Amino acid sequence: MVQLSERMNEESATIKNRQWWKEAVVYQIYPKSFYDSNGDGIGDLKGVIQKLDYLKELGIDVIWLSPVYQSPMDDNGYDISDYQAIAEEFGSMEDMDLLIHEAKKRNIKIIMDLVVNHTSDEHEWFIESKSDVNHPKRDWYIWRNGRKDEAPPNNWKSIFGGSCWEYDEQTGQYYLHAFSKKQPDLNWENPDLRNAVYKMVRWWLDKGISGFRVDAITFIKKRQDFADSHDGMNVIETNQQGIHEFLSELRKEAFTSHDILTVAEAPGVSYKELPIYAGEDGHFSMLFEFDHVDLDVGKEGKWYEPYNWNLLDFKKAISDSQTFYNNTGWGALYLENHDQPRSLNKFIKPEDIGPIPAKMLATVYFFLKGTPFIYQGQEIGMTNVQYPSIEHYNDLASIDQYYSALKEGFSKEEALAAIWRRSRDNSRTPMQWNHSEYAGFSQGTPWLEINSNYSFINVENALKDHNSLFYFYKKLISLRKSSPYSDVIAFGKYEDMFKDSLQIMVYTRELNDKKIAVIANFDNKELTLNLDFNIKNVILSNYDYLELHLNQIKLRPYESIVCEVDLSF
Ligand code: GLC
Ligand code: CA
Repeated sequence: MVQLSERMNEESATIKNRQWWKEAVVYQIYPKSFYDSNGDGIGDLKGVIQKLDYLKELGIDVIWLSPVYQSPMDDNGYDISDYQAIAEEFGSMEDMDLLIHEAKKRNIKIIMDLVVNHTSDEHEWFIESKSDVNHPKRDWYIWRNGRKDEAPPNNWKSIFGGSCWEYDEQTGQYYLHAFSKKQPDLNWENPDLRNAVYKMVRWWLDKGISGFRVDAITFIKKRQDFADSHDGMNVIETNQQGIHEFLSELRKEAFTSHDILTVAEAPGVSYKELPIYAGEDGHFSMLFEFDHVDLDVGKEGKWYEPYNWNLLDFKKAISDSQTFYNNTGWGALYLENHDQPRSLNKFIKPEDIGPIPAKMLATVYFFLKGTPFIYQGQEIGMTNVQYPSIEHYNDLASIDQYYSALKEGFSKEEALAAIWRRSRDNSRTPMQWNHSEYAGFSQGTPWLEINSNYSFINVENALKDHNSLFYFYKKLISLRKSSPYSDVIAFGKYEDMFKDSLQIMVYTRELNDKKIAVIANFDNKELTLNLDFNIKNVILSNYDYLELHLNQIKLRPYESIVCEVDLSF
C-alpha cells in the first residue's frame, strides 16, 4: 500500500512539471550553411522556410536558429550589430516573420540565439560608448586604463587567443572582449544596459518566438577586482560571484512573461551548481554541459595538446549529470552543435564510421533524461572535413589554434591534424541535400567548401532508403513523443549499469510499472552480455535481426538495443 501511494505521488509530481519543452525535440539550424535560396552561396531564411516540410517529416517540434541578426559576421553572426534587424545576407524581418508563421502552421516553434555577453564593435551602443569617455553609454561596455608601462589592465586572455583587452587610440583606454576584439563585452553592472537587454528580449517574445538558446551566459559577470588571474591559463574566468543576481533578474524581467524554453550555454558551471542553473526553479529550463563533448580537448583548451580519453570518461560525464537530474532539473541532450566537430568522428574509429555506429550514438543519447537536440546534418550522418591547408578554413578559433600551435613548436602537419579533428568548420560545412553540384545547398559557390562525401551522404539518399539514419531518428522521435514508452523516456529515473566496462554503455530508465534498458556496444568487437534481468520485448535495434535470449545478448560491433525489462520477476 505504502508503495502504491508513493508511486502515485511520484506520478502526480511528474504531471505537475509537464512543461511543453520536456516532451519536445529540438533541431539546430546554422543558417549560413542550411539552404541557400538565392544562389549567393550563403544559406538564408527563405531557405529555412523552403525546408520546413523536411523538418516536419523528421518530426521535430522546435528549431533553434543560430544568430540571424544584423552582423558584420566576424564570428558568423555571434557578433551582433543590431538585435532588432536581420542580416542582409539572411533576408529581412518580413522573412523572419514569415518563418515564424510558416513554422507555426506546421506546429514547429522557433527559439533564437540570445547573445548578450557582447555585441559587435559595430553596434550603435558600442560606437556611442567608444565616442567619448563622458558619453552616457560609456559604461555600457567595460573600459579601463592601461598599466603605467603601457600594458593592458590585466593578464586575462580571450577565448580566441591574445589579450582580452583592446586599446582605443581615441579615448586612450582599453575595452574588454572575452571573444574576438570585434566582440566587446557588455557591462552587466550597468542597470540601463540590463534594462535595454530585457526590453529587446521581450520584443522578440512578443513577436512569437518560443524561447532562447542563451550564448556564453556565464561570462556576463566579471571578477570585480580585475586582478591578474593566476590559474596558469589566464583565460577570462566564467561564473563569477554575483552572477546569480543578474541571472535571476534576467529571468524575472525578460523570460517569465511567456511560457518559453531557455537553454543556457554555461561553461564553468559545476554539478554542484546545476540546481540553481537548471533545477525546477532555476535560472533556465536547461543548460548545455561540456564534459562529454570536450573529452578530446587538450589542457587549457588547446586542440593540439595531447589528450586521452576512454569510454569511462564519457560515461562518467553523462551519468554525473543524469543522476543529478533524477532529483531536480532537466538536461539538454546533445552530441553535436556548430562549435563541435561531428560526433561520428569523435566517438567512432575512423575505419568504422557508417550507419550502424551512427544509429548506436543516436540511441545512446536519445533515451537520457532531458530534451534532445539534433544538429543539422547529424540526422544523415555528416562527418568532419579535411581541407588541405589552413587557408581553406573560415572559423576564427581554428585560425587562432593553428598559429598558436606553430608558435609553440608544433609542425604544420601536427597543427593541421588538430584543426581537422577539432575545427568548428567541421560542422559548418554546407548541408548535403543531394548529389548535384554544391550538394544541392546552393546554385552558386558556397561560402565554405562542401564535404566531398556529399555524393553519397545526402538527404535525397536518406529519404529514399527506409533503413537510413534519417528514418532511425524519425523513429527515435516518435518513440519519445507518441509511444507507450513516452512517459518513461521523458520522466523515468536514470540508473547506469556495467559502469566499469570500457566497451559497452548500459543504462535503465524506470517510471511506475515500466522500465527500459538501453544497451550499446562502442567497439567493433563482439561481446556476450549476461543481464540480471529478463527482456520483455525489444523496442529498438540498429541491426536487422537480433541474437538474444531472455537475459543474454550477443552484441555485434556497435550494436545498440533498447528493450523493456520484464518486471514480473
Ligand atoms: C558561443 C557560440 C560560439 C561563439 C561564442 C561567442 O560559444 O556558440 O559559436 O563563437 O559564443 O559568441
Ligand atoms: Ca542566400
